[in-house]
Amino acid sequence: MTGSGSADGPSIANEAALLEKVRELVTGEPALAVVLATVARLLTETLAADGCLVYQVEEDGDLVVVASHPSAPDDGEPLRMPKGFGVTGRVAADVVAVTLVDDDPRNQRHRGLLGLQDRQRVSRLCVPARTPEGDCSAVLAVHCRTHREFAPPELALAGRVADLIGLRVHLERVSCAVQGYREEWEALVATTVAGQEAERRRMAWDLHDGVTQAIASLMFHLSAAEVALGDGDLDYVTEQVRAARSLADLALGETRSAIDGLHSPVLEDLGLAAGLVSMARAVPSLQVEVEAQDLDLPDHVATSLFRIAQEAVQNAAKHSGADKAVVRLVKHGRTVVLSITDDGRGFGAPGAAGVQRGLPAGSRYGLAGMSERVHLIGARLKITSLAGAGTTVEVSVPDVE
Ligand SMILES: Nc1ncnc2c1ncn2[C@@H]1O[C@H](COP(=O)(O)OP(=O)(O)OP(=O)(O)O)[C@@H](O)[C@H]1O
Ligand SMILES: [Mg+2]
Repeated sequence: MTGSGSADGPSIANEAALLEKVRELVTGEPALAVVLATVARLLTETLAADGCLVYQVEEDGDLVVVASHPSAPDDGEPLRMPKGFGVTGRVAADVVAVTLVDDDPRNQRHRGLLGLQDRQRVSRLCVPARTPEGDCSAVLAVHCRTHREFAPPELALAGRVADLIGLRVHLERVSCAVQGYREEWEALVATTVAGQEAERRRMAWDLHDGVTQAIASLMFHLSAAEVALGDGDLDYVTEQVRAARSLADLALGETRSAIDGLHSPVLEDLGLAAGLVSMARAVPSLQVEVEAQDLDLPDHVATSLFRIAQEAVQNAAKHSGADKAVVRLVKHGRTVVLSITDDGRGFGAPGAAGVQRGLPAGSRYGLAGMSERVHLIGARLKITSLAGAGTTVEVSVPDVE
C-alpha cells in the first residue's frame, strides 16, 4: 500500500477531455446518481481499468456504495461498510488517497461488486472526494482484476475528478438543508396562520355567545319598556329599563373580555408573574394558587405562557369540577417550566402523552391552541390527565438566557 503521489510521469490520454466532461456533469446534470454513475464509467475508461465503485460517506461515517461501473445488479440494499472499515473506510477517515496492489477483499458482496472470482485478487486506486471544508464526502475507487501499480499521474487525475465530485455532493447537501429550512419555515407559517384563525374563531364565538346575546335581550327589554311607556305602566317600564341596563353592563364586560382575549393589558402592565396572579383572581368558581418567579422572558414567550396558563385555568374551571388549581412558573437552569395542575375529574388517560398524540373527544380550540403556541416558541408540552386523578399541563421552554 502506498500513499498518494505527485503528478510526475507521463500524461494520460484524454485527461483534459475527462475533466471537461466531469465539470459539465457536475454543474449541468440534475441527478446526483447519474453524475456518479457516469463519472465511474468515464474514470474506468480513461484509466483503462476494469471498473469503479463510488462510496458515499453517510452522516454517521458509514460508507454506502451508491454507484458502480459496470453497473451492479440491483439486489436489494446497497452495500454498506461501517465507519473506518477497510481501505475505503480509511481513505474516508484520513482523507488521503491510497493504492493497493493484489488486494484480497473478504466481504463476499464487495467481491461480487468488484467482479472477483474465488481467490482472484484486485489492484485498487481509492481517492477521497473532498468538500470545500476538507471533509471526505465520498470515495472513488477504481479497480483492476490484474496486477497493476497505479502511477502518480493516475492518482492525481482521479484526485481532481474526486474533488469535483466532492464539490457536487457538498452542494447537494447544502440544497437539501435549504429545502429542509424552507419546509420548516412553511410549516411554521401554516401553524401561525392556523393559530391566528383559531384566535379569530374564538373571538367570533366570544362575541356571538356573549355580546350578541346580551344585546339581543337588551333590545327585547327596551322594546317592552317602549310599549309599557305608551300604556303608562311606569313600574313595568322601570323594571325593563333596569334589566336593559344590567344587560348593557354584561355586554360591556363581554366586549372587554373578548378584547382581552386578543391582547392582554394585564400582561403588558404587570409582566408575566403578576399577570398570572391577576388572571387567577378573576376566575370565578375556582380557587387558583399562583407560585410564579419573576422572570425576564422575551415578549413572545411570556405572551404564549400567559395564554396557555389562561386556557388551562379556564379548562380547570369549566371542565374539571375541582375546587382548586395551582399555577407554577419556575426556572431550572436554562429551562423555564410552567405548570397548571388541578385535582378534578381529568379526561381519559393520555398519560404522559402530549396532546399532539391525541386530543380528547370534544376538543375545540383550547388544547390544540396550546399545542400550536408551544410549537411556535420551540417549547415542549406535556399533558398528564387521568380519569379521577386531575390534570397537569406542563410547558418547558428550553435555552432561556
Ligand atoms: N382540566 C381539565 N379537566 C377535565 N377535562 C378537561 C380539562 N381540560 C380539558 N378537558 C377536556 O378536554 C376537552 C378539550 O379541551 P379544549 O380546551 O380543547 O376545549 P374546550 O375547553 O371544550 O373548548 P374551548 O377551549 O375551545 O373553549 C374539554 O372539552 C374537556 O372535555
Ligand atoms: Mg378550553
